[in-house]
Amino acid sequence: MINSMYGKSILDLTELTKEEFLSIIDLAVAIKAKPKAYRGVLSGKILAMIFEKNSTRTRMSFEAGIIQLGGQAIVLDSKSTQMGRGEPIKDTAKVMSSYVDAIMIRTYSDQMVAELAKEASIPIINGLTDDHHPCQILADFQTIYEQKGTLEGIKLAYVGDGNNMAHSFLIGGSLIGMDVSIATPVGYEPKAQVVEIAHKNAKESGSVIEILNDPAEAVKNADVLVTDVWASMGDESEQQEREKVFKNFQVNNRLAVQAKKDYLFLHCLPAHRGEEVSADIIDGLHSAIYQEAANRLHAQKALMVKLMSEV
Ligand code: CP
Ligand code: NVA
Repeated sequence: MINSMYGKSILDLTELTKEEFLSIIDLAVAIKAKPKAYRGVLSGKILAMIFEKNSTRTRMSFEAGIIQLGGQAIVLDSKSTQMGRGEPIKDTAKVMSSYVDAIMIRTYSDQMVAELAKEASIPIINGLTDDHHPCQILADFQTIYEQKGTLEGIKLAYVGDGNNMAHSFLIGGSLIGMDVSIATPVGYEPKAQVVEIAHKNAKESGSVIEILNDPAEAVKNADVLVTDVWASMGDESEQQEREKVFKNFQVNNRLAVQAKKDYLFLHCLPAHRGEEVSADIIDGLHSAIYQEAANRLHAQKALMVKLMSEV
């Protein structure tokens, strides 16, 4: 069977059909169960990774993943490349396309990544931008699937900043039929164009999408509780101001009692205990944060196989 994802770029999950998305999760589960069976699947393939923002998990899981699949990675700090001195994206894209088989990039501007994808002849993978974090969603949904046995019909409540994670939950969840309730302080809601995509997807998938300003309402009867840092990379100068604005948006026991009794807690990490989440929740029995982080490896191996292997 022809692999419909071969050669695709993944910028924000809108590139995937529901079937393609679910097939990545299925492959991730299969690779996790039998990693040795996939050794050599990407033999001779090279992934370039460009970082303009810090990373622990994304960098390590992509590099470990491509090595385990038989390929290799070249890691670039954008500051030490000519990109950091203003070389046009077009030239960078054309040149890199002649050296490597795919590029994973973590940066600020979604527009820049879109231009890179337009000009490159190889897949571009968004490893986090200001507005999206698609690879994290693959790992998170794999974790939910492993813990709950299903994705469709699950209610996921995200409490906090309407940031890249909130956006990617909205797009991914609405694509596959998950209900997504987002609660943010007033003025920190997800971007309107992302909410519009989610509503459009939801018409097809049957998801219920809610954008709220009341954390308790969002969390009511949720199967999965998620939060993320109040100040993302690039927002550091707003940390103090955000601590005040977000103080009623902490995921703690008072809030979690509104969720289902067997709720699952997720956080993409890095986390700030005592800010967006209390220590007893993130380190408690409902938390699957380390399984979630571990699944970055398996989910991204599945993604790379789909994008970089013809079969
Ligand atoms: N969750 C995540 O993307 O982690 P890193 O910033 O460490 O890559
Ligand atoms: N929203 C966070 C996610 C970090 C993995 C950020 O962009 O910094």
